[in-house]
Amino acid sequence: MRPLSKPVTIINFIVVLLSQLPTLTLSQCRDSCGDIPIKYPFALDDGCGAPQFRRMLNCSTDLFFLTPSGSYKVESINYDKKTIVVYDPAMSTCSILQPHHDFLMTDIQSALIPPTSDTVFALLNCSIDSPVLNHYSYLCFNFSSHSCDELYGSCNAFRVFHMVANTTSPPCCFTGYDTVKFMSMNILDCTHYTTVTNTDELRGIGPQDWVYGIKMTFAVPDSGCNRCAMSGGTCGFDTETEGALCLCSSSSNYTRECGKEDDQL
Ligand SMILES: *[C@@H]1O[C@H](CO)[C@@H](O)[C@H](O)[C@H]1NC(C)=O
Ligand SMILES: *[C@@H]1O[C@H](CO)[C@@H](O)[C@H](O)[C@H]1NC(C)=O
Ligand SMILES: *[C@@H]1O[C@H](CO)[C@@H](O)[C@H](O)[C@H]1NC(C)=O
Ligand SMILES: *[C@@H]1O[C@H](CO)[C@@H](O)[C@H](O)[C@H]1NC(C)=O
Ligand SMILES: *[C@@H]1O[C@H](CO)[C@@H](O)[C@H](O)[C@H]1NC(C)=O
Repeated sequence: MRPLSKPVTIINFIVVLLSQLPTLTLSQCRDSCGDIPIKYPFALDDGCGAPQFRRMLNCSTDLFFLTPSGSYKVESINYDKKTIVVYDPAMSTCSILQPHHDFLMTDIQSALIPPTSDTVFALLNCSIDSPVLNHYSYLCFNFSSHSCDELYGSCNAFRVFHMVANTTSPPCCFTGYDTVKFMSMNILDCTHYTTVTNTDELRGIGPQDWVYGIKMTFAVPDSGCNRCAMSGGTCGFDTETEGALCLCSSSSNYTRECGKEDDQL
């Protein structure tokens, strides 16, 4: 026993020392994934960020936004403008045709992180029986003077639709997120879709140079996070009750701000 006691004491000392280092206070919540900063309300680790945004991001090879329809690569998060831009690697674009699948979000995601109005869903190769060509044709619009025919005409990926019906190109529709939210691709009866964002800025720009992706705007739940952050803590929540917590160090959590127990608790 004797020879061991000295190293053990040193280890104990180091552990005590480490637990008092302020840098450790943030270590329970990763604050970036690659070069994308992760801040409230988003988080990578459970118990960090806002509970409403739980399990929405995955930092594996890259940062991914998880929805019931798949993992979407996060291109950027703008915390000032409160926008997040994602890209579906399995989506068709002007240069690649891929099998269709729906874009689905959870109810919470639809409510808190809806796609912006300058994100347009282009439904392609629709059948003439598609609801958006009949009862719901008012849901289709042209953006910045662009028409769907332009996509068929100038995109290598979509030229294939042209060849089938050799007189007129198959119907298509530029529409907003609400349309695909309420009607699946099967109901819409269109075989492919692509999404274009920043559509307000694409006047006079051809489909090859459009920005393909989905821009969403997020709401930041008001849970007194500023107070916690200013006291040096990281905003998080109790993983069981989902009640707000201010994560202060690996050994202490407070409800509102570091070093101060909330009166209500
Ligand atoms: C603080 O909260 C986090 C997240 O809920 C949890 O993982 C951690 O165990 C808590 N620490 C203490 C000391 O309660
Ligand atoms: C996150 O990514 C890792 C590595 O790719 C994977 O093992 C894990 O299942 C993913 N988590 C979720 C919730 O998709
Ligand atoms: C276009 O839609 C028709 C059915 O409306 C389908 O038979 C055809 O395969 C689709 N074209 C491509 C390239 O998927
Ligand atoms: C969109 O533009 C095309 C060609 O410019 C036109 O034929 C079509 O009627 C327009 N659609 C709508 C909904 O304005
Ligand atoms: C394409 O056009 C040719 C000549 O006009 C016609 O004979 C042929 O039936 C058309 N094919 C289709 C699939 O409409």
